[in-house]
Amino acid sequence: MDDTLLLIPGPTNLSKRVREAMAGPQLPHVGAEFYSMFKETVSLARHVFRNEKGVQLVYTGSGTTGMETSVVSLVSHGDRTLTLMNGYFGHRMLLLNGIHGAKADSIEFGSGRAADPDTLRKKLRENRYSVVFITHVDTSSSVLNPVPELVEECSKAGVLSVVDSVCAIGGEPLDFDRLGADVVFTASQKALAGAPGAVLVAASSRAIEYMEKRKAPIESYYMNILRWKPIMDDPKMYLATPATQVLLALREALLEVKKEGIEERWARHKKLGELTRSRIEAWGLKFVAEEGHRADTVTGFWVPDGKAGPIQKTLEAEHHVMVARGISTDADKMIRIGHFGILQPQTLSGALDSMGAVMEELGLAPGRVAVAR
Ligand SMILES: Cc1ncc(COP(=O)(O)O)c(C=O)c1O
Repeated sequence: MDDTLLLIPGPTNLSKRVREAMAGPQLPHVGAEFYSMFKETVSLARHVFRNEKGVQLVYTGSGTTGMETSVVSLVSHGDRTLTLMNGYFGHRMLLLNGIHGAKADSIEFGSGRAADPDTLRKKLRENRYSVVFITHVDTSSSVLNPVPELVEECSKAGVLSVVDSVCAIGGEPLDFDRLGADVVFTASQKALAGAPGAVLVAASSRAIEYMEKRKAPIESYYMNILRWKPIMDDPKMYLATPATQVLLALREALLEVKKEGIEERWARHKKLGELTRSRIEAWGLKFVAEEGHRADTVTGFWVPDGKAGPIQKTLEAEHHVMVARGISTDADKMIRIGHFGILQPQTLSGALDSMGAVMEELGLAPGRVAVAR
């Protein structure tokens, strides 16, 4: 297991420095060392989000904590919200809106079909929405949504926008200050290549003002942007005990992002995406996401029904490479390759060679593959 190369869409492989950052003696969260390392982590998070103007938060939790924090902090009971859906995580966002009392509307674009800004514009004319929820890359279908265009429609209509960038930040371009979205969040375990367990949230000053002026207070102690905000400036204040090891790992991971250069990292991910797509095309298989909207962080493709399990198992057993299958009803006919984090093109290329060999072994060699969809 030690040597298995993770090509699942999170968590991803950790560098030696990141792993070592978690291996020291327990660091108290109430000491000077933790305070200064935490402040540095928040400032590195700003760098990755390109967030100089807004509020930047980092705290313990998974990506779902970021999803729920954005809903609970912005949505009051009875508010009408809109969720754009083209995969599993859009559905989860809709679910969270319902759980927290929103009149939760959605637009279903279909798994793998990109959200269309024109359709959004029309929908925004039909109803007065308070918040629109957008998934940057839906990891289940590997579709990349046109986030800048979608956010622009929200801004023009005077509606708040939230971007779930869990499967994007660090691997897909995002510039929080220029984008104009109100809340954007990601998690530590994907393109940032940290250990799972930290959530990174950016909030615009407009969003903060909106929360401060809410009639009903935010109905959560923990998933509450306004409660976390002062902790970022003064981590000596206590809200909840942080997962110190996870945050130490995140600081190392963010330092590595900075060292590489954020634009260089986007360019490397572009190469990883292109390399993956070119191999899948050569195998004669079809992508889940529509053309022009395929992510550079994860790629889903269809395999003949019943073959996803054997491909995954054989690849892991014989080549120590782990890929993921589709979610739920797609589990037997979809493979998803996570290609993000510290992954280098030559490592990916070798793993894709192994995958090609497995395809051949299973009678799915190029040209002989009966495409599922
Ligand atoms: C796009 C997206 N949003 C949210 C989540 C939820 O993150 P977590 O599993 O860390 O709670 C994921 C997880 O894969 C995701 O891919």
